[in-house]
Amino acid sequence: MASIEQDALKAMVGQAALQYVVPGEIVGVGTGSTVNKFIEALASMKDRIRGAVSSSVASTERLRALGIPVFDANEVDALAVYIDGADEIDGRGHMVKGGGAALTREKIVAAQSRRFVCIADASKLVQALGKFPLPVEVIPMATRRIARQFAALGGTATLRLKDGQPLVTDNGQHILDVTGLSIADPLGFESDVNQWPGVVTVGVFAHQKAAVCLLGTPEGVRTLEF
Ligand code: 5RP
Repeated sequence: MASIEQDALKAMVGQAALQYVVPGEIVGVGTGSTVNKFIEALASMKDRIRGAVSSSVASTERLRALGIPVFDANEVDALAVYIDGADEIDGRGHMVKGGGAALTREKIVAAQSRRFVCIADASKLVQALGKFPLPVEVIPMATRRIARQFAALGGTATLRLKDGQPLVTDNGQHILDVTGLSIADPLGFESDVNQWPGVVTVGVFAHQKAAVCLLGTPEGVRTLEF
């Protein structure tokens, strides 16, 4: 559970992200506790945007509850900006994402956006990706084989559970969380793992990396540009 301090940092970057929202346009919205703060802040300017494309059922429900129209990704050609959190971000804007199991839709919305603005508290900034268990969305029948492929790389893959049962994503698939990996080449790693049969999406965001990160620190918002 997040501490009160961490919660305040998330609220601070959620608010700061409003400066990247383009009036009159549709904004891409990610998923997670930091994005929930952004969604709350976005409600204050809902009359100045057309609406949002959302990366999860959970964010869609929050947006609609606050009166922000949500468009299907297929209704929109391109988005000016995508605002989302991260589980880890390195000094080049590469991220690990998927702690909230929304990584596939997050990557889709990020791919249709011109600019990825990452919002995170300072604990998410890392030297190298790989400490946070890497989420991978998988087709259920391939789970064991993919786990063996990660074992061959020195990783340990664990099926994510919810209420004692395999967690089912918004796309009807499962999540493996992989520990023990060292991800020295995020671009190459993402490309390789995405080719494995049965992998829907690997939670490394190197091809869809952040352009900007608003990092919440006790001294204020630090802006990193990549
Ligand atoms: C969801 C994600 C989130 O962006 C990531 O897990 C960070 O979440 P939080 O803001 O709650 O720390 O990738 O799939």
